[in-house]
Amino acid sequence: MSVLRGKKVLLGITAGIAAYKIPFLVRLLVKEGAEVKVVMTPSAKDFVTPLTLSTVSKNDVHSSLVDEEDENAQWTNHVALGLWADLFIIAPATANTLSKMANGTADNLLLATYLSAKCPVFYAPAMDLDMYKHPSTKNNFNTLKEYGVLQIPAEDGELASGLLGKGRMAEPENIVSFLKEELEKNLPLKGKKVLVTAGPTYEAIDPVRFIGNHSSGKMGFAIAEKAADLGASVTLVSGPTYLQLAHDKVEIVQITSAKEMFEAVEARFSNSDIAIFSAAVADYRPKNTSTQKMKKKEGDLTLVLERTQDILGTMGAQKEENQYLVGFAMETENELENAKRKLEKKNLDLIVLNSLNDEGAGFKKDTNKITLIDSHNKVTAFGVKPKSEVAQDILEYIIQQTHA
Ligand code: CTP
Repeated sequence: MSVLRGKKVLLGITAGIAAYKIPFLVRLLVKEGAEVKVVMTPSAKDFVTPLTLSTVSKNDVHSSLVDEEDENAQWTNHVALGLWADLFIIAPATANTLSKMANGTADNLLLATYLSAKCPVFYAPAMDLDMYKHPSTKNNFNTLKEYGVLQIPAEDGELASGLLGKGRMAEPENIVSFLKEELEKNLPLKGKKVLVTAGPTYEAIDPVRFIGNHSSGKMGFAIAEKAADLGASVTLVSGPTYLQLAHDKVEIVQITSAKEMFEAVEARFSNSDIAIFSAAVADYRPKNTSTQKMKKKEGDLTLVLERTQDILGTMGAQKEENQYLVGFAMETENELENAKRKLEKKNLDLIVLNSLNDEGAGFKKDTNKITLIDSHNKVTAFGVKPKSEVAQDILEYIIQQTHA
């Protein structure tokens, strides 16, 4: 999933010839899942029309603080626009606008918005090569760098003047790649390896029958996807499920039985920073598995079951100081006490308690209701939420604890 998904991007257009490329940039950002609004300087309208931009962005385009031609004119709230944005990108950014940005001039809507924006600001310079090389432009670049404004470097090539050199606005594709790289660098789980278990296990009775459970894997998949969205490299060890992974940054290891899950987890656990075990692992399996399909006979059938390995408990015993281990507990009575006991016994850092008594919690549902208990005995209860938001709550808690 793109790091730009759901981001509110404010695009500021100034009067450079490269403005004709901005509708393509808007399309690319929208394709990445961003919401885009446009502000432009009045003279940028000579290079690209507000109609084109409002059509591709599906939002109103603003270019002046007050629309003087409209009798019911309202003031365009530059502060609200600045606050709305998660990212502000000024592209193309002319030498003139950059100079005003460096000096704090606010003589149009775009500049007033820039001065009041609290989000990260990027700019893609676009100018002729001699303007680009001019010492005053260099000074402005340096000043903006000091202010924390990030430059999307200009590219070499043919310029509008016909000259060859540096000063072309970065191509829209390169602007998008630059933004994605910058955002990915700052993700809270960047560089972390996260191991997640999900789904049921199937314990074979014979080649066609098994003992399983109703787990859908939805909670574990949501955790794996969210962890990847937050920058982690994720391995998801999953039992049989119909779910499809919606994230290309999650490696999936498919297993069937508790034994296979144990082996897959054991091989990867020591290499992980955070491990979250949400799988509904069978506690028992048939002691003997028939190699042929069992034929029915007169009378009752007794199956002898044996214990499976406790994956969570075994990894808890092996856990190193710098590893963070999370287990799930599904309880029907004495929920808090039982969950706390599990946390201690299995040497966990956090336990996620699902109560089957709660409306909106449990197997196969798209929602869940959890209570988190950490190793300091701190109890935090959450309301019923979609599983993707529950995943976010769990990961935010872990991030806050591991950065503490
Ligand atoms: N779990 C595991 N390996 C098993 C059984 C469970 O890793 N063989 C993990 C689950 O993924 C979950 C946690 O243990 O994170 C809790 O599972 P649960 O079945 O509720 O607890 P148990 O420890 O099996 O205890 P009890 O049966 O007494 O409730």
